[in-house]
This record gives sequence, C-alpha cells and structure tokens, in this order.
Amino acid sequence: MTVVIVTGASRGIGKAITDILLNDPSTKVLAVARNEDPLTNLKIKYGEDRVATLAGDVSQENTVKEIIELAISRFGSIDAIVANAGVLNPVDKVENANLTEWKELFNINFFSIVSLVANALPHLRNSKGRVVLVSSGASTKGYVTSKAALNHYAIQLSSEEKDISVISVAPGVVDTQMQIDIREKFGKNMTPEALKRFTDLKSNHELLDPIVPATIYANLASKGFDKELNGKYLRYNDPLLESYSV
Ligand SMILES: NC(=O)c1ccc[n+]([C@@H]2O[C@H](COP(=O)([O-])OP(=O)(O)OC[C@H]3O[C@@H](n4cnc5c(N)ncnc54)[C@H](OP(=O)(O)O)[C@@H]3O)[C@@H](O)[C@H]2O)c1
Ligand SMILES: *[C@@H]1O[C@H](CO)[C@@H](O)[C@H](O)[C@H]1NC(C)=O
Repeated sequence: MTVVIVTGASRGIGKAITDILLNDPSTKVLAVARNEDPLTNLKIKYGEDRVATLAGDVSQENTVKEIIELAISRFGSIDAIVANAGVLNPVDKVENANLTEWKELFNINFFSIVSLVANALPHLRNSKGRVVLVSSGASTKGYVTSKAALNHYAIQLSSEEKDISVISVAPGVVDTQMQIDIREKFGKNMTPEALKRFTDLKSNHELLDPIVPATIYANLASKGFDKELNGKYLRYNDPLLESYSV
C-alpha cells in the first residue's frame, strides 16, 4: 500500500495526478483543495476506503496540521506528498509590487509547503518517503520567484534529510484553468511577447494535456526515484525523467 497526499487535487494537473495514482488499486490518496465538490466526486468514483479528502486552504497552518492528522488517522502512514497547489496572482511589474499580494502568493506557493513538509517529516522519515514539488519554468512575474524559492528548498531538504527524497519538476505549459487565467485575466499585465507565447501555444494546439506531466509526478510519488535525482530541479521533458513518463 502507498499513501500519497496531493494538494490542488480539484482540477488541472493535481486532478490528473490523483486519477493516475488511484488507477493503481494499491494506492490511497488524501486529496486537498479549497473547493469541496470535486473532492467529493473523487470519493464517489474511487470509494472512501481509498480516498480521503480535506477541503481547505493550504496556506493556513491549521489546515496543514489537519492534513497530516487525517492522513495518519485514515491510512496510518505517509509515503509521498505531491505539492501541486499553486496560484499565479499577482501578475504585475515589480514597480507595482503590492506586498500584501506578494505575501499571499508566497504563503500559498511556498510557505504552505515548508509547513506541510515540516509537519509530515516524522512520518516521511518512517516510510523513507518522497516529496514531489510542482515547480515552473515560466517567467511569469512574481510567480516565478515563488517557484525558484521552491527549487532551492528542494536542495536544502535533500541535504538535511537523508531518509527521504525530494524533487522539483516544472510541468511545461499545460492546458488548465491557469492558462485560461493567463489569456483572459493576467495577460494585460504581461509583456505582449510573453502573452503571445501562451496564446500561440493555445491556438497551435500545443498546450500539454495535464496527463503528460501528471504521469511523471504520479510515478515519482508512487515508485520513488534514484538518489541521483534527489534535490534536483528538472523540467518535465528532461531526459533524466524519461523512465517516469509512461
Ligand atoms: N498550467 C501550466 O501551464 C503550469 C505551468 C507551470 C507550473 N504550473 C503549476 O502546476 C500546478 C497546478 O496548476 P494547474 O495548471 O493545474 O492550475 P489550476 O487549474 O489553477 O489548479 C490549481 C489547483 O490548486 C488548488 N489551489 C490553489 N490555491 C490553493 C490553496 N490556497 N489551497 C488549496 N488548494 C489550492 C486549486 O484548487 P481550489 O481552487 O479548489 O483550491 C486547484 O486544484 C501549480 O502549482 C502551477 O503553478 C502550471
Ligand atoms: C494591495 O492588494 C490588496 C489585496 O488585493 C488590496 O486590498 C490593497 O488595496 C492593495 N494595496 C494597494 C496599495 O494597492
């Protein structure tokens, strides 16, 4: 039996990761997101013996504690965490930086993970578990800074904790709500060239299906990975990840 916590499991890449993990009957998932209905649908589809859900905001410290407690009370162990929940906002120039919004961005994309891992560590050490971080290759304003912090966090975690493994992987440009938000909401604050890159990928049907990166994240979480990958930041199509992509 493998127990995996997936954050941001309500849609997009996180939903695809959760479906792939649950296609393996020996895997159990604790699915986390703010919207409850999509999580309830997972329980209906796969059964409550294999799916636990928690509707909450990962940037809240008490939610993080509840996540760990629920995983242990329902499944008894934690083998992997897929830290996928993330947001883009605020997309704006540094000269317009709004500290309240930047701090909220970091609370969700970065500090929630520092907290989740710290609280899960005793259990991850026991299981010789994995932390799989969903990073980004995009240079989208403040967002990229929060993801860069995550990549360095992976280095620190790998150097301190010898019993667990950690990897940070960028998923490519993926056909999810986040890309719709870029095209329809945030594009106006990006440079025309940066926005064009995303709208061109969409119109040329070159956005990735979420299943492509999700397969890699699910395999890294459920099967574990070689020590040579530990602490690294890689893009989804890096040759080092080829064996995890099917
Ligand atoms: N799509 C891309 O092209 C792309 C590229 C690079 C990196 N990424 C990264 O991939 C990850 C998944 O993104 P996506 O494209 O699948 O975007 P998405 O469709 O917007 O999904 C984001 C997920 O995160 C959850 N979430 C957001 N804030 C949360 C919070 N505070 N607490 C709990 N859950 C939260 C959302 O659920 P609720 O709204 O229900 O909470 C949703 O399930 C993100 O980390 C993103 O940065 C995506
Ligand atoms: C910064 O953002 C917050 C949250 O969106 C908003 O309430 C506040 O008015 C903004 N501050 C400035 C100076 O624009």
